Amino acid sequence: MNYNIAVLAGDGIGPEIVAQAIKVLEAVGKKFKHTFNFTEAIVGATAIDQVGDPFPEETYMLCMNSDAVLFGAIGDPKYDNDPKAKVRPEQGLLAMRKKLGLYANIRPVTTFPSLIHKSPLRRELVEGADFVVIRELTGGIYFGDKGRSEDLNMAFDNCVYTRPEVERILELGFEYAAKRDKRLTVVDKANVLATSRLWREIAQEMTPEHPEIEVDYMFVDNAAMQIIQWPKKFDVMVTENMFGDILSDEASVITGSLGLLPSASVGIHTSVFEPIHGSYPQATGKDIANPLATVLSAAMLLELALDLMEEAQAIRDVVDKSMTAGVVTEDISEGKAYKTSEVGDWLAANL
Ligand code: IPM
Ligand code: MG
Repeated sequence: MNYNIAVLAGDGIGPEIVAQAIKVLEAVGKKFKHTFNFTEAIVGATAIDQVGDPFPEETYMLCMNSDAVLFGAIGDPKYDNDPKAKVRPEQGLLAMRKKLGLYANIRPVTTFPSLIHKSPLRRELVEGADFVVIRELTGGIYFGDKGRSEDLNMAFDNCVYTRPEVERILELGFEYAAKRDKRLTVVDKANVLATSRLWREIAQEMTPEHPEIEVDYMFVDNAAMQIIQWPKKFDVMVTENMFGDILSDEASVITGSLGLLPSASVGIHTSVFEPIHGSYPQATGKDIANPLATVLSAAMLLELALDLMEEAQAIRDVVDKSMTAGVVTEDISEGKAYKTSEVGDWLAANL
């Protein structure tokens, strides 16, 4: 088959890591007789520099007309320390999510046996942890009205959710739980927030429609604690936009392998696949960044966007193999550290 993949490499290490995922996808194409047509477009700080817009119309149209989007990273330190910047790279990411209708961000948290010792948690706490964080991605405080008073001494960000927004993300949570261990944790702050009470009410209404799923509710502060104390107790966690942003970052580090975790953003139009980590500006151009999270995001792309299960598994297998063989970058290597590009070459050659 023939597939069109939009490549939005973005900023920092984005182009370097995305290049490795492309090598791997090309090797998959050869092995399984598919043709992947890659078309690049700009996004983030790179796009601000070139055209003044972090998610230009052309990039949007390319995404809409593709079967999937492979995304690198965005963000540039020159904006981070300038709260007054008029346009920010992150706006490109938010615009992309909104315009593509990507209402769900799916972040699987799995441990890799050879990396458990890198976890900040004790081995027995984290070994075997395996859960998915499903984060609502196009609503809540990220997208509500925001503003400043005229004298600039007051600012606000509204958190808004509507019933259909909550229903569709919870439905996805139930679906994931049904495919996994049949446990769904709904994370909210229903003791304080009206939006959270709406979430909880709707979740309680939906629960009887899914008798096979065991549902529990957890306040977000408690969930933050339990992720550290008992990461193994979770199966599928579903939550609103900002809680999910924070909890998924927390969840990603307990495995000791931030450089290995992929994610998918799915919804109404073309799905986007990207590593969980950011643009790692300190490493830009040094050929040292870990490409595995992006390569594993490519595996998620094959599985979720193109329905190519065997192909996706082939990528996961070769990634496991590279770790066993020690062909990995400096962040996780025990002996010789390989370059980003060398890891990509090895994966492609060994697929
Ligand atoms: C993420 C990031 C983004 C978010 C930033 C870069 C806007 O932290 O994808 O989790 O907050 O959603
Ligand atoms: Mg985040």
